This record gives sequence, structure tokens and C-alpha cells, in this order.
Amino acid sequence: MDIDDYAGGFDEEPGYLDFAGVGPIGRTVRGELAGMTESLARARFGGFGVFLEQGARLRSAVAALTGFPADQVVFQPNTSTGLMHAMFGITGGVALSPAEFPSLSYAADRAARALGVLVPAWVETDHGRVTPGNLRDQLTPSIVAVALSLVDFRTGFLADLEGLRQVVGDRLLVIDATQCFGVVDAPWQLADVVVAGARSGRAPVGAPASWRSASGRSST
Ligand SMILES: Cc1ncc(COP(=O)(O)O)c(C=O)c1O
Repeated sequence: MDIDDYAGGFDEEPGYLDFAGVGPIGRTVRGELAGMTESLARARFGGFGVFLEQGARLRSAVAALTGFPADQVVFQPNTSTGLMHAMFGITGGVALSPAEFPSLSYAADRAARALGVLVPAWVETDHGRVTPGNLRDQLTPSIVAVALSLVDFRTGFLADLEGLRQVVGDRLLVIDATQCFGVVDAPWQLADVVVAGARSGRAPVGAPASWRSASGRSST
């Protein structure tokens, strides 16, 4: 399949994208959804096996796209829930920008208030951009994790994952990839936790996944 065939599978009206509040759903995905709905509606006794196979199918698809092992991929109802899970697992300081999409800042704040073990460290940015240069001097010893969106939802700014990994060092690096997964060919394995979903990965709304590395950096 080339890019023209791929683009030909989408038929949304101009303006649909609306700042990527939702992602267009191509004909292939709609066909798959319709097929599954029909199977669910008409399955006979013993015919439900196909639904039980979908979790493994999702994990192996994400593994193929990211290079993460399939057993480190989990299915989440939406990106916000995946980020919430990640934040609730961290003990210590988490550096993040107050200009992030609220799913991230909300999750950090919720975890801090609910468990009292995560401490948000709101970093100063260059007009909302987190860069290796502006982050470096703000990473104090009490900070155990850094969290950010790889692509900014307002500006489309693409963060420098390689540069950030170097600056972040052994701390945990949590990436919200929901504005870019499937579009940006990023070195995902440099992150420790990646959460992505319905905006750009051509999955229907409600089909995000998160995955994480098995590295020794884990605080989650
Ligand atoms: C960067 C970013 N993160 C998270 C979300 C929220 O995603 P979800 O609705 O899957 O929780 C959005 C929604 O637009 C987003 O742009």
C-alpha cells in the first residue's frame, strides 16, 4: 500500500480534524468495527473466540509499530486513563510543564493529592516547549521522572526525544504520544512509558494503548 492508497481510505469532510480533537477513522477501521459488531450480534454458541483474541492482536500490532515487547503493552479506555495509571505509580518528583494538555497535568495533580507520594515539579518552558536545553537545569536530584507530550496539541511542536532522553538520564521518561502516534516516526524505545490513542493512530476513539519498557529505570 502506498501513501495515496492509504489517504484514499479516508473520506471525512474538510474541517473534520478540528485541531485533532478526534482522529479521522478510515474505511478499513470502519469495516473492521462493522465486522466485529456483526459477529457479536450473530455469533452462535462457541463463536465468541474471536473477541478473546483481540487483546493479543492489539498488543502484537503495537509491538510491531514500536519495537516494545508485546507483553509490555496494555490496552486502556483512553489516553487520560493511561496517563493516570502511570502517574499513580510514581513516587517522587515529576517534572512537567503546566502548559501540557490537561490529561497529563491533571493526572499528576490527582496522584499528588490522592496518594501524597508524587510531587509535581512545574518546569519553566520556552513558550510551552520542553527542550533538552531548558529542562537540563531544572532537573534537581528529587526529580525521578519527566513527563511531556511528544507533539504539542496547540502548536504541533515536536519535542526532541533523543535529546530529552540524554538530559533525563536514569529518570523515568513518560510520553503522551496521542497527538502523533502513527504520524511521527519517533524512537519510542527511548521512552519508559508511552501512552497513545485515538487522535493520530487511526484507531477509533476509545482504542488507546500504553506501553512501557522493562528497563531498570522503572519507578512505576
Ligand atoms: C496531547 C493529548 N493528550 C491527551 C489527550 C486526551 O486523550 P483521551 O481523550 O484519549 O483521553 C488529548 C486530546 O486531544 C491530547 O491532545
